[in-house]
This record gives sequence, C-alpha cells and structure tokens, in this order.
Amino acid sequence: MQEAIYAEGICKRYGDYQALSGVNLAVPAGTVLGVLGPNGAGKTTTVRILTTLLSPDQGYARVAGYDVLKQPREVRRNIGLTGQYAAVDERLTGRENLQLISVLLHQGRRRAKQRANELLEKFSLTAAADRPAKTYSGGMRRRLDLAASLVASPPVIFLDEPTTGLDLTSRLALWDMIREQVNEGVTVLLTTQYLEEADQLADRVAVIDTGKVIADGTPDELKRRVGGDRLEVSVSSPADLATVVRVLCGVSFEAPKVDEENRTVSVPLGGGIKAIAGVSGELAAAGVEPEDFAVRRSSMDDVFLALTGKTAGGDEDGSNDSGAATGGPSTGERKQEAAV
Ligand SMILES: Nc1ncnc2c1ncn2[C@@H]1O[C@H](COP(=O)(O)OP(=O)(O)O)[C@@H](O)[C@H]1O
Ligand SMILES: [Mg+2]
Repeated sequence: MQEAIYAEGICKRYGDYQALSGVNLAVPAGTVLGVLGPNGAGKTTTVRILTTLLSPDQGYARVAGYDVLKQPREVRRNIGLTGQYAAVDERLTGRENLQLISVLLHQGRRRAKQRANELLEKFSLTAAADRPAKTYSGGMRRRLDLAASLVASPPVIFLDEPTTGLDLTSRLALWDMIREQVNEGVTVLLTTQYLEEADQLADRVAVIDTGKVIADGTPDELKRRVGGDRLEVSVSSPADLATVVRVLCGVSFEAPKVDEENRTVSVPLGGGIKAIAGVSGELAAAGVEPEDFAVRRSSMDDVFLALTGKTAGGDEDGSNDSGAATGGPSTGERKQEAAV
C-alpha cells in the first residue's frame, strides 16, 4: 500500500537555526500518525512543509500521492489543515464560515448549504450555527475549525495541536470527531504535546525532538521499548522482602528491584497473567500476605522521558507557540509542565 503521507530527509533552517534536520515519516492510508514533541521540536514546521505552506531546504515529501514541491496544487486539493491558530472568520457565523469555504471551492450554492448543514450537525454546532464565531467557546471554535478543514471531504487531514488549551470535555469531543473521520477512511497526521492524546488517538507515534524523529512505533511498542509492564509487590513487614525477592526471581530473567523504604519489590512482567497467578500462589504458600499487588503499565510519560530526557510540554523556549491556548490548560496539563 502506498503511504498517504511520506517524507524523507526533510531539513529546514530559519536563518542560522536548524529547525528540522532530516525528518522521515510514513503514514499508511486510513491511519493516524501522532507527531509528539515538546514546544519548539519542529512539529509545526513539519506540518507547514507537508501542506505546501513552506518549502523544505532538503528532502522529499509526498502527500496523497503528490510531490509537495512539484505538485503543490494537487496536494492542496487533497488535504485539510487545521492549524494551531483557529482560521475561521470571527465576524461570520459558523454556518456562513462553512458556506463561504464551500462556495470558494466551487461546490455551488445548493451543495454549500447542504455541506454546511451536514458539518454543523456532525460537529454539534447546529444550535450555534447562526451566531457569529466570535461568540463561540474555545472548544466550539476548534470544532468549527476542524469542520472547515473538512468541507472539501479531503482524504488526508493535518491537525496541528488540535486540542491544545481545551478543557477535557471539549478534548474528548474532538477526539470522537477525529475518530469518526478515521472510520470513514481519512488519513490523519496530528501533532500534540499531550502523551495521552497520542496514546488514545494514534495508530503510530513519531516522537520528534530538536528537529528529528527520535523514535517511532505503536504506542504499545514504544512503551515496551522503555520497559513494558512491571509487577510490583508491597509488603507491610521488611522481614518479608527477602521472600518476595525469591518468588519474583522465579518469574523474571531480570533481577528484581527492591525499594526498601516503601517495602516494594518489582520485576518486568514477561510472563503475563499466568506469572501473576503463580506469584500470588507462591507468596501465599510462603505465608506472605502482600499489602499491595499491582501491575504497573509503562505510560507514554515513561516513553517520552526515556527518549528525550524531558517531560512532555515542558520545554519553555518561548517559541511561537505561546499564544496557542484559547483557554487555560487544565490541571492535568499543568502537572506535566510543572514536572520539569
Ligand atoms: N519563522 C521562524 N523564524 C525563526 N525561527 C522559527 C520560525 N518558526 C519556527 N522557528 C523555530 O523553529 C523551531 C521549531 O518550531 P516549530 O516547528 O514551530 O516547533 P513546534 O511546532 O514543535 O513547537 C523553534 O525553535 C522555533 O522557535
Ligand atoms: Mg507548533
């Protein structure tokens, strides 16, 4: 199958600042690639190059089968783009915004009306359809923005940080709308600083840092690469630790890690559920009753930290992203930022 988005060795320099140094990407048709990276990593620059808004200094890229440098018009005809900054006209109503785009695309007035209605309905904007967009909340605006990029029913869409600054409810609603597009066969490249978003939405994730893809794979592959799941057993008495270590040695090739302060022993969980049942039985036979018995899944946070040495969203380099939020980040997002 030909990839809907393919990039090889993309480089871009702004003055003497090397923003991209050899980005490679391949997105099979009908899938979602999450491009995950901190502020300033080069996400927007990559999107701008793939959507023909910016020329690369070096490298080759193809979108929907067309060369971004040699066939920019064909590329544009086959893509939708939702940028980091909402691109709707504030003075127009939601309906007018969508109809205007449709008319500009030569879809004809009747079709324009019909397409606007369809999209307003799909994006839960029917009730607000005839209010000026400037009265919309952040979440409504992003929905309108996404709807606007879908007027032409493009087979490939680019979403640059589509949910940055949205509250959780709006974020979940937008995820649903993106999933719906994927179910209809659309290919999506979405950039994000949110690990959870990449985890939830993306078939594959490319982690980008300082202008390079430093890892890619499915979210599960990436998690396994940084250690996978661990079984953790905590006991109330320090005297039981040695027994727990002996039992856990039996289910792992790796030596158990002992945290004496928290009286917890952990090992990578190679053998899955069966190993857990075995450990539980052996501990009972040895007269040890665990205080806590848990499987700790590695998270995208672990992946990101292991790969970049940073926590996500924490790279405050004052780059051009600072105005992106239409509402304040939620507490969860702050937590990620504060963890640096
Ligand atoms: N027009 C520009 N001129 C100079 N530097 C820029 C320009 N646009 C982006 N940069 C710099 O290039 C780097 C990558 O930016 P960008 O692609 O916007 O990153 P991201 O979207 O991942 O936050 C950042 O360090 C940013 O400051
Ligand atoms: Mg950006």
